[in-house]
Amino acid sequence: MPGMYMDTLNGKVAFITGGASGIGLGMAKAFVGEGMNVVIADIWQDHLDEALEHFRETNHEGQVHAIRLDVSDRPAYERAAAETLERFGKLHVLCNNAGLGAGMRLKNTTYQDWDWAMGVMVGGAVNGVVNFLPRMIEHGEGGHIVNTSSMSGVLQPAMMGGETYTTGKMAMIGMLEQGRLDLAEDRIGCSILIPGPIQSNIFKIGRTRPDRFKNEAAADVGGAARAARADMGANPLWMKPERVGEMVVEGIRKNALYIFTHSMFRAGMQEKFQKMLDALPAEPDSQELIDSLGMFLHNPIYASGPDAK
Ligand code: NAI
Repeated sequence: MPGMYMDTLNGKVAFITGGASGIGLGMAKAFVGEGMNVVIADIWQDHLDEALEHFRETNHEGQVHAIRLDVSDRPAYERAAAETLERFGKLHVLCNNAGLGAGMRLKNTTYQDWDWAMGVMVGGAVNGVVNFLPRMIEHGEGGHIVNTSSMSGVLQPAMMGGETYTTGKMAMIGMLEQGRLDLAEDRIGCSILIPGPIQSNIFKIGRTRPDRFKNEAAADVGGAARAARADMGANPLWMKPERVGEMVVEGIRKNALYIFTHSMFRAGMQEKFQKMLDALPAEPDSQELIDSLGMFLHNPIYASGPDAK
């Protein structure tokens, strides 16, 4: 049956990584508005303080708990998960959202750059599901996972740089596309948030790079280039994160497989997917082979119409 696996969002508990700024904070505000309790986990202390101040001013302080966390730090993530359960008892909605605007070019990318990008985006999501998913299944009240990918994970932009970002964002899609069917039997929904341009602090990169991933030699992720991009996330043409938060609530309610924020990518996506279809060999495969591989050829999660699985 379409729709979320929880009876209501009111009173449920969410854990949002990168929850003190931008899209994560937008989700936190929307969830609190639905009567949820929310843990915002973020590496950035001043943003955690500002976010808490916002919830204090709006009289929602009791619904929000802040944890300073580097999601790529496994022992710290385990402690954050324990703290979440101690504070709110259970977890229902996990948002793997922490990310970084990494503009590195493939030919310059070092181990530190890769480890940082993969450690935060993919590793953070891995730490999220390993810590929380068994507990979400165990309480039996249903739940939901939201992975924040990006349009760059679907339609790769025609620019130089961003290969680590795209690699991580594609992984965020694959994890939940593959997990969705399996987790339906545990009443855990899966949605992939695929934002277009959203106002945020994403371009202030470098600031959130943990010391162990520091890379003095990376010219294209520092200095003037970074300073020039820092203001991009303030562009008034870009969507407000609060709107994205509302879209995520709606997506959870419908158990939408994909939550896209912008329609303008349609033609580019059609070009890309047509290119892939055109690249399939023309020779037909044997019917016997086709008959033996049914589960590899179609997946009910892609059936058109309302999301059912
Ligand atoms: P943001 O910079 O405002 O928020 C990201 C938050 O993640 C920050 O508060 C930052 O401190 C936190 N963070 C970074 N590294 C962390 C770590 N190691 N551990 C814990 N927290 C960490 O940026 P935004 O845009 O809200 O980013 C949220 C997600 O949305 C990211 O995954 C980003 O890639 C994605 N996204 C953003 C788009 C945009 O246009 N703003 C477009 C597509 C995707």
